[in-house]
Amino acid sequence: MYFILAGDIVYIKVLGKHMVILNTVEAALDVLDGHGRIHSDRPRMRTLEVMGWTGATTLMPYNSLLRRQRQFIKMVLNDKAVVNNLTPLLKRETMTFLRNLRDAPDIFPNHIGRFAVGVVMHVAYGLDIESMDEPVMRYVRTAMGRLVQTGTPGSGTMVDFIPLMQYLPWWATKFTRTAAISRPEVDLMWSVPFNMSKEKMRTHGPSHSVIQQMILKLGGLDNLSPEDAQDIKATGGALYAGKLPSTQTLLTQNTVSLLTFFLCATRHREAFRRSQEEIDRVVGKDRLPTFEDRPNLPFTEAVQNEVWRWSSPPNLGIPHAAMEDDVYKGYHIPKGAMIVANLYGMTRACEDPEEFKPERYLGTEPQPNPRSIIFGFGRRICPGRQLADRMVWLAITQITAVFNITPVGDTLPPAEFKPGFTRHPKPFKCKITLRPGREALLQ
Ligand code: HEM
Repeated sequence: MYFILAGDIVYIKVLGKHMVILNTVEAALDVLDGHGRIHSDRPRMRTLEVMGWTGATTLMPYNSLLRRQRQFIKMVLNDKAVVNNLTPLLKRETMTFLRNLRDAPDIFPNHIGRFAVGVVMHVAYGLDIESMDEPVMRYVRTAMGRLVQTGTPGSGTMVDFIPLMQYLPWWATKFTRTAAISRPEVDLMWSVPFNMSKEKMRTHGPSHSVIQQMILKLGGLDNLSPEDAQDIKATGGALYAGKLPSTQTLLTQNTVSLLTFFLCATRHREAFRRSQEEIDRVVGKDRLPTFEDRPNLPFTEAVQNEVWRWSSPPNLGIPHAAMEDDVYKGYHIPKGAMIVANLYGMTRACEDPEEFKPERYLGTEPQPNPRSIIFGFGRRICPGRQLADRMVWLAITQITAVFNITPVGDTLPPAEFKPGFTRHPKPFKCKITLRPGREALLQ
């Protein structure tokens, strides 16, 4: 193994595989955006393929099928569509979230999870899912659990280094035995919500969900080719459970953002109080803030920015792969190299990076918005970013309007995170209480 360290770009060769790490926004924009035509593939993840995950958007090579999947996702999740079609869903789900926080504040992480599931299952499949305990969600837990059993998901097993292993009989090694169990589990996880979505479409007509729009445009309920049906299932799977490598599912990204918000609100009382004052002044106490108020709530917006900068939900972007040899600032990027954007490092390129300071986005020289980092770069940039932004904004703003969030006892919860690709705060406690006079807002 050897390294070349050159500031904004790091090159590592390990077991014959090339890896390029991009440490600055400039390098990521130059390489992944500027040279996007040749750096938009994904590295082959044989572990995942053998386990049955082939076809999920996040893992797809940069080919016409991937571009078709992304077009459908964009059709449902572009800015205008999110504003026009998904606002009622976001309002409804956020209200359920607020009521759950009021009724059982101690289990706030569960309510965050339910909120994320409620939105994403609707957006992906047009399904109303009440909790992670519903049977359809159990298939996700089983298949994801199996993946975790193989090691850090996406980090690779021996089959990534010795591809011939994939042709061994199923009983030959621990990995091939696990893979044989995994394939039907992944198939169930993708097929069950797909079939439920088709059923709902039959009885209620198509919704603005990615899967139902794909079905509609690719042949309708009864005329899908088996290939298209499989592609639709894999797209749905990627939306609700397939953001690999790592255990970072799309659900996790939104969940992590909101957990981090609760952690910041507990640790940084002054910023949270200032945001409450702003909302009280602009919106008053007799209604909840809405998207129309957003331009008038700059400090609350800055809090959301700072939550995303202080703890970028993914530490690293999903790896891209070079489709051709390239040269960047005199350094050779070999064809096939894995290219990873160091999102965590990029969000630390500012003054006092460990301080939580929403003010850095205000004033005459505001710091760049972390949204231009945390959703990745180039042609594989996150297609769910507009939805994630509005979802997290509404939740943060309405929670701030309605609740006080304080430490339990005298000590602040520590800023500690689980190891992994996602910056998932370690479990912590906080006290969530309704602000006086806000009961009526949750009726
Ligand atoms: C705070 C929330 C979120 C964050 C921080 C986030 C971040 C990311 C990042 C860093 C990537 C990799 C980009 C790259 O390859 O350069 C990605 C890809 C992706 N994201 Fe998100 N995401 C979030 C929420 C969502 C949501 C809500 C959806 C949809 C419901 C979504 C759908 C996707 C898909 C399908 C991909 C794969 C795109 C591809 O491989 O072409 N994301 N996201």
